[in-house]
Amino acid sequence: MNLKDKYIYFFVKNGHKQIPSSPVVPENDPSVLFNTAGMQPLIPYLMGQTHPYGTRLCDYQKCIRTNDLDSIGDTYHHTFFEMLGNWSLGDYFKKEAITWSFEFLTKELNIPIERLGVTVFKGKDNIPKDEEAIEIWKSLGINEDRICPTENDNFWQAGETGPCGPDTEMFYFRSDDEIPKKFDPEDERWVEIWNDVFMSYNMKEDKTLEELPKKNVDTGMGVERVTAILEGLDDNYLSSLWTNAREKLEEISNLSYKGNEKSMRVILDHVRTAVFISADPAGIKPSNTDQGYILRRLIRRAIRHAKKLNIDINSSWMEDLALIYINEYKKYYKELEENKDIVIEVLRNEKIKFNRTLEKGLREFDKIVSRLNDNKIDKDNAFKLYDTYGFPIELTVELAKEKGLDVDIEGFREKFKAHQELSRTASAGKFKGGLAGNSEIETKYHTATHLLNAALKVIVNPDCHQKGSNITDERMRFDFSCDHKLTDEEKKNTEELVNQWINEGLDVWVEEMSKEDAIKSGAECMFIEKYPDIVTVYFIGNKDKIVSKELCGGPHVKNTKEIGHFKIKKEEASSSGVRRIKAIIEE
Ligand code: ALA
Repeated sequence: MNLKDKYIYFFVKNGHKQIPSSPVVPENDPSVLFNTAGMQPLIPYLMGQTHPYGTRLCDYQKCIRTNDLDSIGDTYHHTFFEMLGNWSLGDYFKKEAITWSFEFLTKELNIPIERLGVTVFKGKDNIPKDEEAIEIWKSLGINEDRICPTENDNFWQAGETGPCGPDTEMFYFRSDDEIPKKFDPEDERWVEIWNDVFMSYNMKEDKTLEELPKKNVDTGMGVERVTAILEGLDDNYLSSLWTNAREKLEEISNLSYKGNEKSMRVILDHVRTAVFISADPAGIKPSNTDQGYILRRLIRRAIRHAKKLNIDINSSWMEDLALIYINEYKKYYKELEENKDIVIEVLRNEKIKFNRTLEKGLREFDKIVSRLNDNKIDKDNAFKLYDTYGFPIELTVELAKEKGLDVDIEGFREKFKAHQELSRTASAGKFKGGLAGNSEIETKYHTATHLLNAALKVIVNPDCHQKGSNITDERMRFDFSCDHKLTDEEKKNTEELVNQWINEGLDVWVEEMSKEDAIKSGAECMFIEKYPDIVTVYFIGNKDKIVSKELCGGPHVKNTKEIGHFKIKKEEASSSGVRRIKAIIEE
């Protein structure tokens, strides 16, 4: 049995129900582009909602993390990975969770106890040291020298807000050196293999913690890393999970993995992730925004590295690799088989599209470099590579880095934004014919959306946050987090407050700042991951007050007076914990 099957078998035997893996694109959580942990699809249940499968769950979850895409190429980073997890929703707690973890590691995976070390929560602020976890580990035979309390590394939270709690992490000594008596999590020979989180709190917007109605357990173990460890390898890409794809790539390129690790790992990783994104029921296609942009970047970067290995880009190398992954994973994820043709088509089309300009783009890049007076590629050239040759900015940065050069990324982003504005205006003109007012009205709705977002926080609850929005030239739709149906009074007061702000003639202005500063200043932001490092923040207010501060690309009106009369037409449920308002603007 492989690791995944063993894990599920063990936890099912111990009373857990296996739940299906959720899609990689979250179904009801627009706050992230992809599921990044096994617990992500379970957040509503960790917060107290009843799960249809009961209170003891386990699964393997497809996860995608693209925040350190640049690290792909080393031995242990992956953009796509599978996370094994078991959960207690107000059922068992520390004793059972730790005992099962220990039993699975030592009895099912046969890891010798001498090779194990654990960290536990040292205590911080009002939350005490986790003496209970320490006692449980000791009772199982883990020596005190192998139990290390830490402060920050042992409090787990998925995002800025939401369910969280102290955890205990298990480490494995991966080295042929003599095993030290004392466990030191900072020593790189000890690698983390599993995390048991005791989710007892909800982190609120203001960073205070409130106790959850039920105490939960959330655990996570990475399949790629643990498989490599069990096979005695220190390069994840050498494990049996990758054998078929790796050998296929060696065959395609006529090169061996050894000596070409970096490019091969990039290709192996990126193609696998691209397969899972394009097979997802969300129907993601390569594009210049959101998940589609990640997909495009992955495919284009894989192509660039294939070129480095002298692979004939026009051959079916990418499709052949994709088919290997589809075959290997279809037993676990049936959408791969069901959407096989779509996956192959998406990869092939994007490959053909990019290959048309890649060669010329690379020549242009060399020309740009040969003409440089300093060691920085300027915004105009970076934009030209993007606009004419389809080079995602990250690709230009990577190419530049290989030559020890910098790129004016900030300047590129400004140019990019200006270009978007232009094409937005152009397409508004093109598609809407003589009705020049249309894009103007959408701009009004855009600003009204910010006002509504701010008004809900004043009238209903400071914890109301935008979950989605959709604007046409006839109405706006606004989804926000809220645990109840709005009362008539709340609706009326929200509408009145928005109109009050409109009538006050507040100014709307934009400032550019680092994402970090924007978040620190408390600016509203829906998809934090989606924003570049430098962001634009729209403010609404006057010299006495600021009523709204939100990360946004615009466009907006200059003064709220331009908006007209705001009217809520409907308030209804959208999904669990999310309400929807439909509103219009009247002249
Ligand atoms: N949610 C925890 C993690 O991802 C288990 O580490």
